[in-house]
Amino acid sequence: MTTSPQTSELILVTGASTGMGAATATDLAARGYHVIAGVRREADADAIRSTRIQPVILDITRPEQIVEVAALIEADGRPLRAVVNNAGIAVNAPVEVLPLAEWRRQFDVNFFGHIEVTQAVLPALLKSGGRIVLISSIGGRVAQPTYGAYSGSKFALEAVGDSLRRELAPHGVQVVIVEPGAVRTEMVGRGGVTLKKLSADMTPTQERRFSGLMRAILAQSEGFLRSGVDASEAGKAIATAATTPRPKTRYTIGRDAALLIRLARILPDRALDKLLASALRRLFPKPHTSLND
Ligand SMILES: NC(=O)c1ccc[n+]([C@@H]2O[C@H](COP(=O)([O-])OP(=O)(O)OC[C@H]3O[C@@H](n4cnc5c(N)ncnc54)[C@H](OP(=O)(O)O)[C@@H]3O)[C@@H](O)[C@H]2O)c1
Repeated sequence: MTTSPQTSELILVTGASTGMGAATATDLAARGYHVIAGVRREADADAIRSTRIQPVILDITRPEQIVEVAALIEADGRPLRAVVNNAGIAVNAPVEVLPLAEWRRQFDVNFFGHIEVTQAVLPALLKSGGRIVLISSIGGRVAQPTYGAYSGSKFALEAVGDSLRRELAPHGVQVVIVEPGAVRTEMVGRGGVTLKKLSADMTPTQERRFSGLMRAILAQSEGFLRSGVDASEAGKAIATAATTPRPKTRYTIGRDAALLIRLARILPDRALDKLLASALRRLFPKPHTSLND
């Protein structure tokens, strides 16, 4: 086993069962850190467990599990170098269609869960001069149609990240926001299942209004699986954001994120609207195709 100084430091990664969370945990362990990897099922814990990856059961919407993980970190005694707030879900549908319970579910995971985890481990981070990493998204800077809930949760996370960075800088805790574009993970498939379920519940009038858009969004996100960055590459970028000595305030992952975020900064709203609409238009289905075709 490595005896590098990193083995004497802990990093907590939430949502480590699949995708970027799993890749980040693996990359950090390879760099020598002792990773506390949050997963929700014993089978996922068994799959990721290794010498330097210690799985813990952590659903970030379950306060009692958050408290337990914070206590485990305190009892461990090693300094907490960083928390990587990564867990996330994508709930996509037009504002009119999305039931309030689904809005709340989206915000409970992508926003309130991260706040609660951060609050719980903040005493350890203040003690160690550690770092908070927030996994936002290109959707945290640009809100596409049907992304109202997802982007809402990520814009909110970005705002809290800025506020937290300014609050904690004088106290030696750094805050870093990561904005991935398309990354090949489980999220596309999982989000697609939710989107199809929500589509099936639309009224005939909503269906006339939105089914073409929903189909185009689904096709666009499926395209991410072809064009997206590999999860391991994203994990490496997140591990660097968590550990580099002098971090930037924000990191993008993927050329799509870098380009679109730059465009959003300089283009007037109407020009950005046109750009996003024209990218989607070519994905609209031919007449008489359904979401399940
Ligand atoms: N993939 C992309 O293109 C992309 C782009 C921009 C940003 N992101 C962001 O990147 C992060 C990671 O997503 P991913 O793409 O790697 O997707 P993923 O493969 O679906 O991973 C999501 C992870 O979050 C976990 N999770 C979901 N609900 C949770 C909860 N209540 N408590 C704890 N963990 C929970 C999942 O665990 P289970 O297996 O137990 O469900 C899984 O480990 C998310 O914040 C996402 O918004 C992704």
